Amino acid sequence: MSMPLLSIQDLHVRYGGITALRGIHLTVHAGETVMVTGPNGAGKSTLMKTIAGLVRPRQGKVIFNGQLTSGHAPETVAASGFSLVPEGRQVFGSMTVLENLRIGTGMRRNAMAVAADLDYLLDVFPLLRERSNSQAGLLSGGQQQMLVIARALMAAPRLLAIDEPSLGLAPRVTDQVYEALLRLRAERDLTLLIVEQSASRALLTGGRMVMLREGGIVLEGDPRQISPERMQQAYFGYDTPPDAGARESAHAQNAAAPLPT
Ligand SMILES: Nc1ncnc2c1ncn2[C@@H]1O[C@H](COP(=O)(O)OP(=O)(O)OP(=O)(O)O)[C@@H](O)[C@H]1O
Ligand SMILES: [Mg+2]
Repeated sequence: MSMPLLSIQDLHVRYGGITALRGIHLTVHAGETVMVTGPNGAGKSTLMKTIAGLVRPRQGKVIFNGQLTSGHAPETVAASGFSLVPEGRQVFGSMTVLENLRIGTGMRRNAMAVAADLDYLLDVFPLLRERSNSQAGLLSGGQQQMLVIARALMAAPRLLAIDEPSLGLAPRVTDQVYEALLRLRAERDLTLLIVEQSASRALLTGGRMVMLREGGIVLEGDPRQISPERMQQAYFGYDTPPDAGARESAHAQNAAAPLPT
């Protein structure tokens, strides 16, 4: 098999006394879509930030595009082709949509290629073309999510990582965001690493799923081949498969909790 685009080996991260990641191993090949799922506090955002160089691991390595990137500055990691759309969609609110997109261009010097990419991305996100001269702060949540994704793509990354694109969006709007992502994946040589709490999007994107819980990987594979029971077991952290009686009470409990599927 070809050399992986991203290789994470035995990654450990702590914030003071809190262990956020405990020994993560993950490999992503070019062209793959990998969905990182798991409940609140599982360490999903920490994993993204550590790959991006925003958080320094206590132990372990990140190798991106053949280079050791862990311990390097975020600018260096970005320049090697890793683009992260962080949680919470930070647009420059007082700047226009176009100005936001041009900022994403970063260190690219080929003006023709940049202009072609801008035009292509405004095709993929027609709502952004309509609003191209509007102040970014006035866009809806879904439009802002599209803007930060398009801005990250203006850097022409090899791998695009997105932390919880669906957060706070109506399902219909989330569908639009994912439709654009799947089009980009089909038309461009794009590798995707997407964080979502719920596994339901992982089922729809047809990618590989990696589920985190309490800083470790608890489940990994093709989500279409994993039973809902196993999914819930990993998500909620049952130690042993519940027996029939326990399953009943687990169902009762889950009725109130946000389900992973
Ligand atoms: N800057 C920080 N300082 C201290 N602890 C932190 C910090 N950031 C995250 N943590 C802790 O690290 C753990 C992992 O957090 P992280 O944000 O990576 O989880 P997550 O899976 O992204 O959660 P969510 O689904 O809520 O976004 C949690 O226990 C969290 O409280
Ligand atoms: Mg998070």
